[in-house]
Amino acid sequence: MTDIAQRAAELRELLNRYAHEYYVLDTPSVPDAEYDRLFRELEAIERDHPELKTPDTPTLRVGGAILPAFAPVTHVVPMLSIRTETDVTAAGALAFDASVRRELGLAESDPPVEYAAELKFDGLAINLRFEHGVLVQAATRGDGATGEDVTQNIRTIRQIPLRLSGDAPAVLEVRGEVYMRRDDFEKLNARQRETGGKTFVNPRNTAAGAVRQLDPALAAQRPLSFFAYGLGEVQGWPVQPATHAGVLDALAGFGFPVCADRVVAQGGAGLVEFHAAIAAKRDTLPFDIDGVVYKVNQLALQRELGFRTREPRWAVAHKYPAQEALTVVEAIGVQVGRTGALTPVARLQPVFVGGVTVTNATLHNQDEVDRKDVRVGDTVIVRRAGDVIPEVVGVVLERRPMREVAGGDLFNPVQEPVHPPYRLPAECPVCGSHVVREEGEAVTRCSGGLICSAQRKEAIRHFAGRRMMDIEGLGERYIDNLVELDYLRSVADLYTLTLADLLEMKRRADERDGVTPETVLAGKVATKWAENLIDGIAASKHPPLARLLFALGIRHVGESTAKTLADWLGSLAIIRRAPAPLLRVLPDVGATVAVSIAEFFAEPQNEGVIDALLAAGVAPNDEHAPSPKLRGLLATDELLAACGIAKLTPLRARQLAERITSFTTLAELDQERLAALALPVELAASLGDWLACDTHRQLLCDLEALRTDLLALLPEQGTAAGRLDGQTFVLTGTLPTLSRDEAQALIEAAGGKVSGSVSKKTHYVVAGEAAGSKLAKAEELGISVLDEDGLRALLG
Ligand code: IVH
Repeated sequence: MTDIAQRAAELRELLNRYAHEYYVLDTPSVPDAEYDRLFRELEAIERDHPELKTPDTPTLRVGGAILPAFAPVTHVVPMLSIRTETDVTAAGALAFDASVRRELGLAESDPPVEYAAELKFDGLAINLRFEHGVLVQAATRGDGATGEDVTQNIRTIRQIPLRLSGDAPAVLEVRGEVYMRRDDFEKLNARQRETGGKTFVNPRNTAAGAVRQLDPALAAQRPLSFFAYGLGEVQGWPVQPATHAGVLDALAGFGFPVCADRVVAQGGAGLVEFHAAIAAKRDTLPFDIDGVVYKVNQLALQRELGFRTREPRWAVAHKYPAQEALTVVEAIGVQVGRTGALTPVARLQPVFVGGVTVTNATLHNQDEVDRKDVRVGDTVIVRRAGDVIPEVVGVVLERRPMREVAGGDLFNPVQEPVHPPYRLPAECPVCGSHVVREEGEAVTRCSGGLICSAQRKEAIRHFAGRRMMDIEGLGERYIDNLVELDYLRSVADLYTLTLADLLEMKRRADERDGVTPETVLAGKVATKWAENLIDGIAASKHPPLARLLFALGIRHVGESTAKTLADWLGSLAIIRRAPAPLLRVLPDVGATVAVSIAEFFAEPQNEGVIDALLAAGVAPNDEHAPSPKLRGLLATDELLAACGIAKLTPLRARQLAERITSFTTLAELDQERLAALALPVELAASLGDWLACDTHRQLLCDLEALRTDLLALLPEQGTAAGRLDGQTFVLTGTLPTLSRDEAQALIEAAGGKVSGSVSKKTHYVVAGEAAGSKLAKAEELGISVLDEDGLRALLG
């Protein structure tokens, strides 16, 4: 071999290995840039020496020439389908087990049959043919006997190996499903929306469409994935496994993605357990499934059972209750949320889907209504996945009610839809304030703020929620009545409610609704509920700071941002004073979020609510000094760069920081002194403009004051704090004296991070008794392993 040929072979092998690590194992060992560099090197070699191109070269993954049509492929071993068990309850699994036992002639006293249970992926079945380890052909199932040659498109799927690892059989046909992950599907649709392209209906059709796309370059742009689940023709495999589970393990060894959600189950009971376990996690899987599949595990038993017409007796598909159903839109209503967002909601003819009866489905926003063109009277596909709010997937246009209009004749009537396209109202349906839709935003909002009782109700509901202040006994009805009858103008009013207020509220609400409770008829007043509610409110007064922050309902502040604020800044007093640039330097806080938080606390209405909460005795139970790590983020240049001054790049922020002594000096700069700083002309101009605004000068003074206070609150450096900055730890096994939480707390207090899995980025693995695979992985990757004493030494 010439040097060039040898290099090409080396590059192919490296690139194929990196692709496997990245796409199948999810543990990349080189940076993307390195992969790209090697890829370009191989491309260049192949351009100059086309004779060096091989069928397993990764450069084929980008897609080749457009095909006129797909060539037919005859399957040596037919691609069969599996029978579907129609009973979606546990009984379906038991029925399959019973039929297998009957066919095998087993008596009740015989041991349970062993099954391989796996997921039924919702995509397109593909047969991959490898000869001497190299992918030579990929074909669709077609009618089972003859499919279509889609090799070019399949090569673009990075998860599919172009060459098998290890000792490959002379011929190996691997069968599996090409599918699209939900997140990839969403991203693809988001991209389509941005570029004005058409959006796709569901991941399955999109995946199937991509595989059968005649332009491989287009197919290459569709993010497809693959799971192997079986075999076709096999020749020359010396030690073929004896079980289906063994086959899947072997396929994983050859480099195929094999789904981890599979088990070897004993008997019908094992199948029922698997069916239930997958039902519970179905919605959290990153891809759609079409049920589960049970296969008799022993291949010898599979052969004994054989086939009935075109379906094996040894396998069955077991589904779940449908998650999609058809129904009719009776009306389109509008809900006003906590932030004033107007959400169009389809009121539906009740329909049973995903295990519950659905009567409402969200239409998200005006853009989504326009995109799907959902109208009153339309027949729609409704989807419900687990706890997710039911959603209208699309309209069955053929069933749209139409009426005839003038202009046609008997043979060519002219028709138009009975109902016009839906538009959100111009006024808030709750308070009548005008609605606004900001430039570039999908959401339409009520402008009524707190005068809109919908927003007040939602804000209180959110505040009282379980993951927020967790106020027990404050049900939806009570909130509605308390707001409607004006007992609650803000969340702070909760804490001044008295027993008498509650009882009066109830009496007035009953009067208004024209009901007289039985207790009243009996001459008594029910007070227990009100006492409980007062207790519930009192018990909520001392939540962790992060929950209080989350409860306030600041736009863009979810649980994780709330925790970041609480962890880093430590107290409400500091957080409410923090200007946006200071928030902006915290991890994972972007410009929009920072501005939203600062604006929230600057708004006089909100200031009033917070003061009232504090005055009523609400106080977080875990306030602390700001995190020592904060010191590193308070540098003048970092904060300047976060101020959003045009032309002030991080580099220039550093230069500017060197020329001023404090933010206050910057705030006090006049034209002359600004010129004396000798900044680049453009920057000087934009900084001049920025400083011309009083709010900005005030911001600088606020920043300086807060920074001074924060620095005074921070513990001195040189202690344990900061010792482990930037170091990542993984804990495994049981340590002699420290619990896992304690060890984690110590590491974090010293600035380190604790992660759940070992990778190249791990600095130390702390291993105790009965450490398992993580320890092995650390040793394999050459990562330092510490025991508890070692950790303590490191912590000082
Ligand atoms: S085994 C002889 N296993 O379901 C058995 N099929 O109706 C052959 N499918 O066309 C199929 N996930 O597209 C098998 N874990 C799985 C599957 C699966 C999805 C699809 C496949 C096939 C159809 C069979």
